Amino acid sequence: MRLPDSFIQQVLDRNDIEQVVSSYVALKRRGRNLVGLCPFHGEKTPSFTLYPENGSFYCFGCGAGGDVITFVRRIEHLDYLDAVKWLADKAGLPMPENVSDDKTSRLRVRVLEANREAARLYHRILYAPEGRAGLDYYHRRGYTDATIRHFGLGYAPPSGNPVLRALREKGFHDEELEAAFLCRRKEGSVYDLFRNRVMIPIIDIRGNVIAFGGRVLDDSKPKYLNSADTPAFRKSENLFALNFAKNNAGRSFILCEGYMDVIALHQAGFPQAVAALGTSFTEEHARLLARYTGDAGEVTLIFDADGAGKKGTQRAIDLLRAVGVRVRVVTIPDGKDPDEFIRRHSPERFRLLLEGAVGDMGYRLAELRLHNDLNTPEGKVRYMRQATDLIAGLDSPVEREVYAGQVAAQMSVQKSTLLEQIRQTIERRERGSRKTQMARIVRRQQQETVRANPEAAAHPRAAAAEESLIGLLLQNPDSIAYVARQLDPSQMITPLGRDIYARLVDRQQKGLMVDLAYLSADYDEAQMAYITSMLQAARDRVNSLEEADRYIAVLRQEQAASLLARPEELTPEQIREQLALLRKER
Ligand code: UTP
Ligand code: MN
Repeated sequence: MRLPDSFIQQVLDRNDIEQVVSSYVALKRRGRNLVGLCPFHGEKTPSFTLYPENGSFYCFGCGAGGDVITFVRRIEHLDYLDAVKWLADKAGLPMPENVSDDKTSRLRVRVLEANREAARLYHRILYAPEGRAGLDYYHRRGYTDATIRHFGLGYAPPSGNPVLRALREKGFHDEELEAAFLCRRKEGSVYDLFRNRVMIPIIDIRGNVIAFGGRVLDDSKPKYLNSADTPAFRKSENLFALNFAKNNAGRSFILCEGYMDVIALHQAGFPQAVAALGTSFTEEHARLLARYTGDAGEVTLIFDADGAGKKGTQRAIDLLRAVGVRVRVVTIPDGKDPDEFIRRHSPERFRLLLEGAVGDMGYRLAELRLHNDLNTPEGKVRYMRQATDLIAGLDSPVEREVYAGQVAAQMSVQKSTLLEQIRQTIERRERGSRKTQMARIVRRQQQETVRANPEAAAHPRAAAAEESLIGLLLQNPDSIAYVARQLDPSQMITPLGRDIYARLVDRQQKGLMVDLAYLSADYDEAQMAYITSMLQAARDRVNSLEEADRYIAVLRQEQAASLLARPEELTPEQIREQLALLRKER
């Protein structure tokens, strides 16, 4: 089912690309365009560019590109129709009839409905006689009934398949329950996946129950069973309790390791606590938090007081810094995790701990000191070298000054000596990284092209002309009529080029708008990125009809060359013609 142009036009009119993108990316104006840190790959210097004049975006770092619909498709992981629907919903536009019955989005809706029903059921069971063991468990950990209700906690009993029975009765198919990771089929019979576990529903920022974590009541293994990724859930992109934490006024967050830590913290009066879901903290998690912290907020890390916790802390610092989030660190002096600390002491003591959080640099320098014996000259030198490397990695010169001063004072050396060392380190790294960055961009663009248009590599000269010509036509739709008179789609060199060109000509002849956004129904994300790269390159060129003529000439010539490579398929007349073409134009 194709959406009518008029509807797409309405959606585009009401969803300015600048506005849509800016809720994910902090954009700064640069000339006619806007730039920011790319939300599709980790970077410290902005290579993501937004072109308001033609409603497109392009990242020079990773090659992502497209129109506003493609942007939503990528960032929200939706298919084309769902992305349009997402934008339409935002603008309060109802979708035209019978388009929303797309199969995967229907399954996603069913999975969400099944999850919601299951969460209700687990919660109800918790307060029924058969849920006694679960309720006792929560109470033993000090969770109040108000907390249990707030988080919608529940219990899956050891036997009886209550989810399967209740949800079948409500009309869910077994396949839907399997897709939701609630039930499993084995040797023909279907049964509940979660058994004898206290159940923690994972709720996304829109209030959907997207997954579950289920904890055993004793020390058996595995401690947690978590929903696998489903049509409604990706664990690397969601944080537990963000639905509550996102509303906190200071835009600051506490990041800890466990579900149980988060629940205990919320109960103790720290509703800004979140945790990753059964996995380590990822780049996507960092970007998600960065969206909510904004410029004012920060993230305080409180990981478990063990080796894994330390590793996780270093990793989270790197990932959060990379997306520009300020980070502080709390080390738990006593107890294994925040949950235990609060139980052993009090919320007030925890608040003091929080207030004493050190900046991430302070934390890292302290860690380095711990690992070197500062009473020996070798230990001192090693510490200084590691500290220099660390400080050289800071983007802000002010920060570098401050920490260099601190380390210099501690070690009784001249600050200027340390700063000089830092300067040299930075220079050395930049020399290296400029080279690798350029190489990466070139490599990335080649990869993108190969992915989107594998045939281009076989005829580089013709493909370059084809790309330039398509770019020119997108940049300058007025020239389509002229070019269409000279060049038949069959003369384009690659199948994709032919297809795009034919569509452009077709739209132009029908008097329809020629715009990137109208192509996005027909091409996947990689192809859209490729098309946008052609448009983007055309912006920096002269796009006259003479230029178009040049590209057309190259395409004809290359076609002649490839025809002449198989002369047995041509008549003598055709051979003469093609030879003439080749001589004239080379
Ligand atoms: P923890 O072992 O610290 O769990 O693992 P916890 O939530 O604090 O539980 P308690 O306090 O021991 O009862 C931290 C997180 O790692 C994931 C879970 O997300 C957990 O909350 N994890 C841990 C798993 O997914 N599976 C496991 O078997 C263990
Ligand atoms: Mn714990």
